[in-house]
Order: sequence, then structure tokens, then C-alpha cells
Amino acid sequence: MTTLKMTVNTYSKKGRISPLLYGSFAEHLGRCIYDGIYLKNNPDVPNTDGIRNDIIEALKAIKLPVLRWPGGCFADEYHWRDGIGDKSKRKKMINTHWGGLVEDNSFGTHEFLQLCELIGCEPYIAGNLGSGTVQEMSEWIEYINSSEPSSVVQERIANGRKEPWNLKYFGVGNENWACGGNMRPQYYADLYRRYAVYCRNYGPNRLYKIACGPNSDDYDWTDKIMESITKDCSAISLHHYSWMTSQRATELSKDNYIKVIAKSRKMDELIERHGNIMAKYDPEHKLKLVVDEWGTWYKTEEGTNPRFLHQQSTMTDAIVAAGTLDIFNSWCNIVSMANIAQTVNVLQAVILTSGKQLIKTPTYHVFDIYKEHQNNMLLESYCENKRLDSDEQVNAISHSASIKEDGAVFITLSNASLDKEYEMDIELFGNHYENAEANILASDNYLSHNSYEEPEKIKKEAYSQYKLSDNRLFIKLPACSVIGMVLK
Ligand code: AHR
Repeated sequence: MTTLKMTVNTYSKKGRISPLLYGSFAEHLGRCIYDGIYLKNNPDVPNTDGIRNDIIEALKAIKLPVLRWPGGCFADEYHWRDGIGDKSKRKKMINTHWGGLVEDNSFGTHEFLQLCELIGCEPYIAGNLGSGTVQEMSEWIEYINSSEPSSVVQERIANGRKEPWNLKYFGVGNENWACGGNMRPQYYADLYRRYAVYCRNYGPNRLYKIACGPNSDDYDWTDKIMESITKDCSAISLHHYSWMTSQRATELSKDNYIKVIAKSRKMDELIERHGNIMAKYDPEHKLKLVVDEWGTWYKTEEGTNPRFLHQQSTMTDAIVAAGTLDIFNSWCNIVSMANIAQTVNVLQAVILTSGKQLIKTPTYHVFDIYKEHQNNMLLESYCENKRLDSDEQVNAISHSASIKEDGAVFITLSNASLDKEYEMDIELFGNHYENAEANILASDNYLSHNSYEEPEKIKKEAYSQYKLSDNRLFIKLPACSVIGMVLK
């Protein structure tokens, strides 16, 4: 077995790991909201005003910090007034982007904000710049956040909510380079400047305004946006998917497995290069990157509507998730939030549902392991690595290390190799550590996944294949595995 050296310096703190890096995204798409999070009518499944209790509990358990809604592409077709008031009178619209289904608007602003309150997470709303008016966007924020006795606020109170919600995170459009209006960057930037003026602050609450940033490696978009928007903006978004639409998740060939891992690891280069462009206009990096859509995107599952983007989630996705979260940690000074796409039943979902049943995917368990990084200080760490293959030049190991306020160190590691186990020889400089506790997510097959027949085939388990002495930790990192360990 090859030994790889790693060092962690507990005295060298590089920045705070915002909990918001561990966020999620729920769109009116396929079975994410309806027949996923929200049940229009299913008394057999325990729920709170239609919101599934098991989903609330599962998301609480991974300390979900923030949830983005209502889209995605749906956001720029969504008119918030259609989703408030008496449900029987709410407007029915066609969800043209996602399968042409009739959207009855039964899940709207109140329902979403209630969901976030039940989970205990921050809401992040994406506004409609593509097909909505400035007034509409402005009044949505007034409706949610104001406590003054305006007509809009009276309407909210009449709809059952007296206190404002104090929404903080607000996106001014989504993918306005494509489904959000097919705009050129200069045009979008001008619109952003106009719309953002009317996204007002109410009371002491301060909006964190997020402009539409680039698709993956569209560096020109970032350049042109940054040229025009540095004021009245807190962050720009970045979307990056690891596409493999020629194969289903559970049929992925080994070659395509490596390609998917390579695509996901590109996140590192994307953050670095977009970050460098942003620094040209904003050297102090006051504006941050919000990676509000990321994850795998495979061929959809057989027998499902292709526009519902329903896919299984395997150990491949776990390796993608672990590597990506390690990348976000490493860029915690530039990336202020990230949201995996999506929460339930769509793309790299953390949860899958069918009727009464609920499955936690391998990706869910990665979030469960990695939640220990939330709010810690990132530590300087270095790790020897091995290439996964010669063509893609992908590293097998991903890692990060962080320190809690009480001095405990948390280390995460993932091994993307499908056949090589490594022994990690980790040397800790600085504080002295005597106890370790570890959890692992592993399988001998990268296609392994949880199913309704075997919902717990892949799950986080306690792990003891390590030895700690004299501030040196030797730990076995099996092929296709993810480990999280706390040192005290
Ligand atoms: O997450 C699915 C879709 O991917 C979103 O609606 C859109 O923003 C992106 O293209």
C-alpha cells in the first residue's frame, strides 16, 4: 500500500469556513417541490402544512444552512403574486421550462419561508429579472421584509404573517445569459444596476444582493459584469455542472467516471480564474462568488420525464461532493455560499422520495460528514497526491482541515481511486492531539447507491483503521471512500 504524507498546521488559520458553503437549491422542477418536499394531498405521510416532516428532519440533521428557491430557470418565469393568498384561487400557469406541467402555485412565498423556518436555515430567493418588472421585484422584497403599514404589508398580514421574515439573500435574476432572458453581459449589467436600486432594505435588515455571474468557464461574462457592477452588489453567482448526459448514474463506465470526477474538480480552476478577474476590479475581494448551482448531471432515469431531471445518486456522486466541498473550503475567502443542485428528486439530490419512502443518498452522507467544517477556521494543510489517470490529470485525493473554537481539528479526505487504497501519514504541527474519532462512507463499487429496497446500503459508519501517536495520524483510506475525523 502506498503511503502519502500530509501535514496540517494548527497554528496557521486561513479564513472562516462559512456554513453557507453547505447550502442547497430547490426549484419548481420535476418532483423537487411537488411530490417531493411538499405534498398537495397525502395524509399518509406525516407533514406540517404539507411539508414532509421526514425531509425537515433529514435537512436539519445535516445542518442545512441555506436554501435557494424558486429556481433556476423557473425563477425568471415566476411571478410571486401568483403564489400568495387563498390556494384555491391561485393562478395556474404552465411550467414551460420544465415539462409543461400545470403549476398551481400552491407552494409560494409563505410556504417556502415556513419551510426554511422549520429547517432552521436561511432562505435565499432568486428574483425574476428576465420576465418580471422592477416594481414586481421591489414589492416582493417589501412584502417579505417590511413592517411599515403599506398596502403590500397589509396584504401579507391578511395572508397570515404579521412579522417580516428579514430575508437576506436575494438573487437578481438567474442564468440571464440563457433561460433568464438570453442577454449579453453589458445588457444584463445595466438591468442589474436598475433592478438592484429598488431592492430596498427594510429596518435593520441588509440585503445580500447576488448578481447573475458566469456559466462555468465564461470568463468574458465575469469580466464584463465586474466592469459595470461593483457597487450595490454583494456577490456574483457561478454555475458549474459535471455533465455526462450520455449515461445514467448507475451505468457510468469507468472512463466516464474519471471524466465526471475531472469535470467536478474543474471547480478549483474556475474559482481561481473567475476570482482573478474579479480582483482586477475589486482587489480587496469585497464581492464574493456564490456557487449557487453545482453537481452532476446524467442521463435521466428510465421511465421518467426527461425534463424532470431525475437521476440516481451513487458513490461517484459522493466522491464528487467530497472533492467539491474540499475545494469550497480551500476558497472560503472568496466563495461566500454554495448550493448543490438540487435538494430532492432532481439532479444530484441529497434526498430521493417515492410515496411514503425517503432515501438519503451517498451525497447526503457526505454533507452529514462534512457539516463538522461549518464555521471552523480553515487550516493550512498539504497532501502528497497520486494521479487518477494519465489523460485527465486528476488527483486521487481531496482533503481539507479546519479547527473549531475549542481547538479540535476536523480533517476530511476522499479517495477517488477505484482500485488503490492509500495510507495517509498525517503530521500535525502546533497543538497536541491525543484522541481521534472517524467516520467513513465507502463502497467497493462506484455505482453503489441506496434504493427503496436497500435504503441503507451506503451510509456513514464509524471507522477505526487509524493510529494516533505523537501528533502523527496514520489512517487507511480505502478506494472510493470519504472520511471525516475529529482530533481532540
Ligand atoms: O438545476 C437545473 C437548471 O440548471 C436550473 O434551472 C438552471 O439555472 C440551470 O441551467
